[in-house]
Amino acid sequence: MPDLIIDGRPVTVAKGTTVIEAAEALGIVIPRFCWHPALGAAGACRMCAVMFTDGPVKGLEMSCMTPAADGMVVETSHPEAVAFRRHVIELLMANHPHDCPVCDEGGHCLLQDETISGGHSLRRWPGTKRTYLDQDLGPFIQHEMNRCIHCYRCVRLYQEYCGYRDFGPMQNANRVYFGRFENGPLESPFAGNLADICPTGTLTDKTARFTSRRWDCERAPSVCPHCSLGCNTVALSRYRAVARIEARENAAVNGFFICDRGRFSHGFESSPERPREAKIDGTAASVDDALAAVAARLAETAKTHGPESVAVVGSARSTLETQAALKALAKAAGWTGPAFFESRSWQEAITASLAALTPTRALSLADIGRCDAVLTLGVSPLFDAPMLALALRQATRNGGAVIVADPRPVSLPLPFTHLPVAPRQLAAVAAVVTAAPGEVAAQAQKRLPLAPQLWPALEQAAKALASAKRPAVVFVPSLAGALPTDDRFGLFPVLAGPGTAGAALCAAPDAPGLADLAEAVTAGRVKSLVVVEADLAALSSRLFAARAGLDTLAVCDCLPTPSVAKATIFLPTTTLFESGGLFLNNEGRLQRAAPVQPAGDPVSRDGGGNHPPRAFDRRLPGTDPRPADRLCRDLAAALALDLPERPWQNLAGLGPEGERADFAALAGRAKETAQPFPASEGLTVVFAEALFGTEELGRYAPLTAKLAATEPTLTLHPEDAASLGFADGEAVAVAVLDRFVHAVARVTPDVARGVAVLPRLPQFAGLTATLGPCDLRRR
Ligand code: SF4
Ligand code: FES
Repeated sequence: MPDLIIDGRPVTVAKGTTVIEAAEALGIVIPRFCWHPALGAAGACRMCAVMFTDGPVKGLEMSCMTPAADGMVVETSHPEAVAFRRHVIELLMANHPHDCPVCDEGGHCLLQDETISGGHSLRRWPGTKRTYLDQDLGPFIQHEMNRCIHCYRCVRLYQEYCGYRDFGPMQNANRVYFGRFENGPLESPFAGNLADICPTGTLTDKTARFTSRRWDCERAPSVCPHCSLGCNTVALSRYRAVARIEARENAAVNGFFICDRGRFSHGFESSPERPREAKIDGTAASVDDALAAVAARLAETAKTHGPESVAVVGSARSTLETQAALKALAKAAGWTGPAFFESRSWQEAITASLAALTPTRALSLADIGRCDAVLTLGVSPLFDAPMLALALRQATRNGGAVIVADPRPVSLPLPFTHLPVAPRQLAAVAAVVTAAPGEVAAQAQKRLPLAPQLWPALEQAAKALASAKRPAVVFVPSLAGALPTDDRFGLFPVLAGPGTAGAALCAAPDAPGLADLAEAVTAGRVKSLVVVEADLAALSSRLFAARAGLDTLAVCDCLPTPSVAKATIFLPTTTLFESGGLFLNNEGRLQRAAPVQPAGDPVSRDGGGNHPPRAFDRRLPGTDPRPADRLCRDLAAALALDLPERPWQNLAGLGPEGERADFAALAGRAKETAQPFPASEGLTVVFAEALFGTEELGRYAPLTAKLAATEPTLTLHPEDAASLGFADGEAVAVAVLDRFVHAVARVTPDVARGVAVLPRLPQFAGLTATLGPCDLRRR
């Protein structure tokens, strides 16, 4: 533990700490461009020069490249160091275009800050500047190469940290160019981080180009709602529309970065399609009138058919406050539900997954990056939880092994072993690869009807897991019953949505599933349905189809879903950007998103352009939407029911904000989960997520909706395709309830035999777990 003195203050740091980090520990910020805590040192910019006045190093040195050592005495503001840094700025600015007035980085530009704080106010360079041509890097990142200071942060992030190679440095004499070999969209799903990491305006967020300066925006800490990981973000809003999303540092969750789904899918909140007006039987009404109408109709249903004939559907995209308020409302009224999940066995599987997260076994996303062997079961990291892929990459950069057992084709920016096995074989794979080494082949033979060519990979996986000091299992809830009991293995579940863990905590143990509700509606036992922030068409097309038999379908939402279109009464809700809220992420961490803007039409629409309207109005237009939990309370009040003040606070095991919940109380409720994929004759349907297009909120964001694949694919193993007579690229139709949905056949050996992979799109929501040949047709 070296002891050193920086600016007259003693500090003791861990071995291997650099001087720039030691200074940070004291709160002293040494100027830098190329050093970044996640990327380490490159020694490229020479901006972090400090003076070593005593100890083992003497003279002017780069603080990012110098490991802290005993006896060092450092002066960060020594006149020679300050003069050196001033020269560095002068040299950088010799070629910089000085275009701050039109640069999107202006206001949060490290180069601008250092230039001004270093006192560089005169442009003395009389010569021609070095200039470059810019590239079109796709829809997310704007390229302005003339502003580059060659700090190499972008390429270290893009290639080393994220694992993609299509963007990098190219050099000719003294001209270094950071770009692609040719124009084209950046391939990395983490490319948006370039905008955060670039310390100048070379790489900026193209979607927010020319929309605002940093100081124009309202800013609030937020939580990403686009998968279950709950990455921390900052939302920036201008004129009542989110202008951009940036990563917010959280060492336990996402570190410094987020994925492009999380960064660019926010447009649903300001979409022109967003429903903002209440409706009664299709006619616009005030929210109060709509609430009174819902209350009257539900009271009538309850009076005529009993309170249990009113059922409630909740959602995995709601905040914990809404989920708990909905539960309290249903309980107070004696209604059925809330139903949050497809079936009760799904609910039990999620409960079992959370119950397995004992304090000694639960891992955070950051912990995954420090594991030396990770087995993922039934997870496609890049698409189910994108930042998990980045954590796995860090694990492999540290020498760890990654084994992905999943029936779908898997793509990851890291070396990994893919075991493409059918869903019903995943539990057996878990047992085999966590068995004692030497028993693997015998176990594989005994337990798995698996092709022998997979046995060497199983053996190798078992060896890596057996010799690991910090092994981990990443799993989907349906495999909670197949987890190794050995406490050596850390656990990390991947859930379906940002509020799935909260929903499992709120759901009553005997709550019906959506399939049960579909049956109850069809049988006439449920007469009215209250649906809060859920789309039946995407969750259960059987329930959606059964709605015709309902007296009342009351829907509260902020998305223009098919359920909203069919609602007899509609109540508009605010988004998390307007009301904020609490989310419990996949590892049970309670996190709060703060509101960043008031509810109301974006000024761009209200004013017919990008500027505020000229006509003066005291009211904000489009402010009818209310937070969904408040609508639950208002409905309770209209029914003369009392709800507890903060119902979510009564949920067992919740820790303080930012901390993990203690799920011990769930242990009794978590039953052994049934294997959801029994052996069968047909092809087992497995749904696949995509970066864009399958996640519900992003589907309603104009930008990311445009980036979704236009034609869904049906992915099959060559042997299955041959037995069906399908060729790669052929147009087929897939039977869903009483209709056919079109897809293009994709044939690849990367998929498990006996499996049909379809994108998780609403049109496939009614598919049964297995498809027979007659369910698959040529178009
Ligand atoms: Fe959002 Fe998930 Fe991406 Fe994190 S990994 S930014 S939570 S979508
Ligand atoms: Fe040390 Fe760039 S920050 S050389």
